[in-house]
Amino acid sequence: MSISDRDSEPRGNELMTLRSRKNHPTAFAPRFLSACERIHFKIENVSLAIWLVDLRLCSASIASFLEPLSTDELSRAERFSALRDRSRYLISRGALRMVLSDHTNVDPKHLKFVIGRHGKPSLDRTSSIPDVRFNLSHSANMAVIAVALGHEVGVDIECIEGWRVGLSDVVQFFSRGEIAALQSLPKVDQELAFFTCWTRKEAYLKGRGEGLSLPLCDFDVSLAPGEAAALLGSRINPGDCDRWRLIEVPIGDGYVANAAVQLPIPTGVRFRTLVPA
Ligand SMILES: CC(C)(COP(=O)(O)OP(=O)(O)OC[C@H]1O[C@@H](n2cnc3c(N)ncnc32)[C@H](O)[C@@H]1OP(=O)(O)O)[C@@H](O)C(=O)NCCC(=O)NCCS
Repeated sequence: MSISDRDSEPRGNELMTLRSRKNHPTAFAPRFLSACERIHFKIENVSLAIWLVDLRLCSASIASFLEPLSTDELSRAERFSALRDRSRYLISRGALRMVLSDHTNVDPKHLKFVIGRHGKPSLDRTSSIPDVRFNLSHSANMAVIAVALGHEVGVDIECIEGWRVGLSDVVQFFSRGEIAALQSLPKVDQELAFFTCWTRKEAYLKGRGEGLSLPLCDFDVSLAPGEAAALLGSRINPGDCDRWRLIEVPIGDGYVANAAVQLPIPTGVRFRTLVPA
């Protein structure tokens, strides 16, 4: 894959995919950029950058991905017994640092991370760097990194072929509405709809930072072919349907990916505390 910017039809005023090739090479990782593709979305006033990283292509120059890694990251890599898993982890961490360096203009090896209660990493902003939020997902030979300035993001990618779990084992965790929607589809569409549903659900949970610690049946996402990506209902927090936007990431080639970004509270909206009488 070479660096390029996807150009697709704007979908209404709300979600637009923009052509936006950066006209300056990143200061720290010019070689890395030839193995990735960057897509820019504009959702209302929020800019979301999605970076697609071809891990197999990157493995030819693995040394440059190891260079910015911390000793913690290197020792975590040692815990992977399979060499392939280890190198995928190392490359995706190296790529993450390079992407974040591009957005913050900080040397990739000087970036520091903090880990949330359920494991979500974020940038340690004790030094004055831009409020860049990100999330990473990897599956088989691809990694996806979502980046938004000042807005929480989540992303999930799945390689359809890589799944060893039977779909029927996992579908039981979906909400009743999702199971009904899935079953109403022609058989031929069900596998793709399942992965669409799964990646939308995981993107939302990863955006919130809780991951799979929250029940998958407590919210509903769209899943049918051609249906816009959306959070349709949330028993976790009903207000999330207005604040979280789901975005289909166009990848193809046997992968399905979705991102979730949190929008700002509309101006003019005020919260009141209701005190019971
Ligand atoms: C986050 C989680 C959904 C990742 O699932 P996955 O499909 O295996 O992995 P992905 O490739 O999509 O994402 C992995 C990346 O997500 C990020 N991540 C980790 N925890 C996260 C969280 N709670 N929220 C958002 N992102 C998270 C990390 O960058 C991680 O990358 P790394 O593996 O290189 O460190 C899963 O690990 C999870 O649910 N964690 C929460 C932990 C928890 O509380 N579990 C309770 C019992 S299930």
